[in-house]
Amino acid sequence: MNHRFNDAQWAQNYAETVNERRPERLEVFAHVADHLAELANNAPTVVELAPGPGMLAEVLLSAQPQLTYIGIDYSAPFIQIARDKLAPFDQRITLHQADLVKDDWPSLLSSPVHAVVSNMAIHDLGSGAAVAATYEKAIHLLERGGLIINADLVTMPDDDQPPADGKLKVPRHLEILMDLGFADVRCTLDLGHYACIIARKA
Ligand SMILES: C[S@@+](CC[C@H](N)C(=O)[O-])C[C@H]1O[C@@H](n2cnc3c(N)ncnc32)[C@H](O)[C@@H]1O
Repeated sequence: MNHRFNDAQWAQNYAETVNERRPERLEVFAHVADHLAELANNAPTVVELAPGPGMLAEVLLSAQPQLTYIGIDYSAPFIQIARDKLAPFDQRITLHQADLVKDDWPSLLSSPVHAVVSNMAIHDLGSGAAVAATYEKAIHLLERGGLIINADLVTMPDDDQPPADGKLKVPRHLEILMDLGFADVRCTLDLGHYACIIARKA
C-alpha cells in the first residue's frame, strides 16, 4: 500500500485542502454528474473506484436522488472520512474496503451496475497494466449501455518519459478502452494534466 493513504492525518489533511489546491476538481465533479444524468436508467447503481474522502460521491448523490452508490477504497482512514461525509445519504451508499489491484473486488458487487466512475485515483494503482486491468473488470461488470467515467491525472502529449506510475496519455486511455470493445470512447474534458475519459459498454 502507498502508506500516505493509510495515514489518518494525511488523509484528513487531503480532505480539507485538495479542492482548494485544485479547484478545477469541482468543474470535473459537475461534468461527471452531467454525464451520469444521460444514463437511460434514472435510478442507477454507480460504483466509484478509490473514492477517498467521498467528494465526488457527495456531488453525485446530491444530483440524483435515486442514485445508489458503492465506493471501494483500500484506505481505512479515507473510508471513515467518506462514511462521515456521506452520512446524510446512508440509505443509498455502501463502502467497501478492498485493494483494487490485489483483491477480487468485482465479487463484492451484484448486478446491475450502470456506471463505474473514478476521480484522480486510477493512476495511483501504479502502472498502465493496472489501469488496463481495471478497465477490463469494469466492462465485465457493466450493464449494456453502462458508462465508465474516469477523470484522472494524465501525462501531457509532449512528455516522452516512460510513465513512472499509472499516469498515461489520453490517447493511450482511449486505445485501451477501444481494444476492450467499449463503444463511444472519448475524452470529454481535457485540462492538460487532468482529463475525463468516457466510454460505453456496447
Ligand atoms: C489521490 S486519492 C483520490 C481520492 C478521491 N478519488 C478524490 O479525488 O478525492 C487516491 C485514492 O486512491 C486510493 N487507492 C490507491 N491505490 C488503491 C488500491 N490499490 N486499491 C484501492 N484504493 C486505492 C487511495 O486510498 C485514495 O483514496
